Amino acid sequence: MTPLAITQPQAALAFDHMAAEYDEVFTRSMIGRAQRDAVWNLLTQTFWSGDHILELNCGTGEDALFLAQRDVAVTACDASERMIQVATNRLRTENPAASVKFTLLPTERLRELQAAPMFDGAFSNFSGLNCVADLKQTAEDLAALLPPNAPLVVCLSTRFCAWEIIWFLLHRKFRKAFRRCSGRATAKVGEFTIDVYYPTLRKLQQLFSPSFALRSCIGIGVTVPPSYVESWIHNYPQLLGFLRAVDKVISPLPGFRVIGDHMLLHFERVQA
Ligand SMILES: C[S@@+](CC[C@H](N)C(=O)[O-])C[C@H]1O[C@@H](n2cnc3c(N)ncnc32)[C@H](O)[C@@H]1O
Repeated sequence: MTPLAITQPQAALAFDHMAAEYDEVFTRSMIGRAQRDAVWNLLTQTFWSGDHILELNCGTGEDALFLAQRDVAVTACDASERMIQVATNRLRTENPAASVKFTLLPTERLRELQAAPMFDGAFSNFSGLNCVADLKQTAEDLAALLPPNAPLVVCLSTRFCAWEIIWFLLHRKFRKAFRRCSGRATAKVGEFTIDVYYPTLRKLQQLFSPSFALRSCIGIGVTVPPSYVESWIHNYPQLLGFLRAVDKVISPLPGFRVIGDHMLLHFERVQA
């Protein structure tokens, strides 16, 4: 173990606990699909055939496998051993020829990664970075792995999620409704409790500067609800189709883009 130990070993254990069901519960859910399609829309405009990119907190490898289909090579890391196992099995059965390497590596230990030459870009999807206490350090580590002008795409949970507040208020779960609003919360996964951080857009810009400049930000899941609403929305597929269409229009707008379930930030590596 290096001195740069993972700050939250219980997060890795908690995600180990979820790994076997993660694809069924989230990846293949209607809401998970809708939110991920919106992320993929940006990925296809950012990473190109022949690129080699770094993916943080890759989970079961859904995005790495998608990018590999588009001839993007991916070095994909995650802190959870079981997530990496599921991802590796998927690679073997779904696309064994793909240029994807799944690696057990917590984001807090990124400095151990050797990249020669540097990566063409980097990516983190669906809140893995909300589990990292020191994002300033992550930004510095990424800066050492990316050349000038390289894109960095990150998707994090927001601090204020309109759907979440309204949904839990309607269910009279007042603490849950506002759980993100202080910027830090604990989440219980099975027997594990993990710290989750909810930086604002402005705070993220500060944390990633001076090495990264923000080029765009859109909301993910603004009118499309969070995944725990799946069992309800499942009965209304046409409504979900309508909400997806609404999101396409309003998700880039200031005001709306920071009140979704997630926000998707496109940074560019700049000379400090
Ligand atoms: C909600 S899942 C998202 C997985 C995947 N990116 C996706 O889009 O489906 C969050 C992932 O972050 C990983 N994670 C949490 N803390 C981490 C850390 N400190 N370093 C690396 N991965 C971490 C978890 O193991 C889990 O796979």
